[in-house]
Amino acid sequence: MHPDGAARRVFAERFGRPPAGAWAAPARVNLIGEHTDYNDGFVLPLAIDRRVTVAAARRDDDLLRLVSLQKGEARLRLGEVRPGAVDGWAAYAAGPLWSLRQDGVEVGGLDLVLESDVPIGSGLSSSAAVECATLLAARDLYGGPGDPARLARLAQRAENEVVGVPSGIMDQMAAMACTAGHALLLDCRSLAAEQVPFTPERRELVLLVVDTRTSHALAEGAYAERRRGCERAARLLGVPALRDATTAAVDAARERLGGELYRRARHVVGENDRVLAVAARLRRGELETIGELLTASHASLRDDYQVSTPELDTAVGAALGAGALGARMTGAGFGGCALALVPAQAADKVTRAVAEAFDRQGLGAPAIFTARPSDGAARVA
Ligand code: GLA
Repeated sequence: MHPDGAARRVFAERFGRPPAGAWAAPARVNLIGEHTDYNDGFVLPLAIDRRVTVAAARRDDDLLRLVSLQKGEARLRLGEVRPGAVDGWAAYAAGPLWSLRQDGVEVGGLDLVLESDVPIGSGLSSSAAVECATLLAARDLYGGPGDPARLARLAQRAENEVVGVPSGIMDQMAAMACTAGHALLLDCRSLAAEQVPFTPERRELVLLVVDTRTSHALAEGAYAERRRGCERAARLLGVPALRDATTAAVDAARERLGGELYRRARHVVGENDRVLAVAARLRRGELETIGELLTASHASLRDDYQVSTPELDTAVGAALGAGALGARMTGAGFGGCALALVPAQAADKVTRAVAEAFDRQGLGAPAIFTARPSDGAARVA
């Protein structure tokens, strides 16, 4: 069945009328550029072939009826949707409606059915996919901006203010603006975006994703703490954001920063350089050589930024040991997923090696799948 089929069918059963349409937004993996977005830096995510689909129709009143095929049902009035007032999964679907209203759009009531094949809490940005799919639905049904970057900002505002997670802009921009066969090089300060060709299958490579099935607790402090640390480091360095610092400047300020902030800043500055280096290689069609930069990113996230976990390190180590060209954790860390760029003929071997390494260490079995660079959010029916 086409993935939006179930949402539309359940909509008709549950609400006794057909939906006005269906909208879908993808999950993402970040090829490289971790914890750089909220430092005004560079990221290189790609949308993957897992998505959230929303079937929707307007209502004549101010009621919001939400049905999630994965999470259950919720019912609220539009006026109740505001920062601090919506709990749980409903905030991801309702939050963007609040953002649209803040932007001046007269959003009315909606019936919405959500369906997802994105593993939740795995660092693949299921939350941004929900936000972007519902935002597009509400925009098409009630009006609002057409520009993907403005839409991404509205979705991010929902995440920051209604959901209450101080995330950067990467996930929402990836969900809105990625295109199949490309990674999205994004300057998180200007939101200038470039589609960089990324087609591993044409080079007999695959991008494997290892979902460690250990869930990250983004909202629970560590992410916000890293973010505050970066802001402090930028102030000590006398720059608007770590994006504006160089490795030489960070090294020269080592004493002033102190051990921990020094390592955090060193990660961010080095990671921005690695993103630009990977993008340059991809533009030249040199997919095989980006592996070393992916692996260097992992080491930096593990040792300097300290957001990796034993599961993620195991996935990366086992993948590299079995022939991956490069591997790294992807997303915020503290659990979630790792990715590995692997010669197609070694994919089975890498998959087995990762599963065996988890088993040997007494870790729960990971889920391993191939990611295909896919299109961003769109109306699908
Ligand atoms: C999460 C956030 C993003 C970004 C990454 C880390 O996915 O939502 O904004 O900060 O972590 O790179």
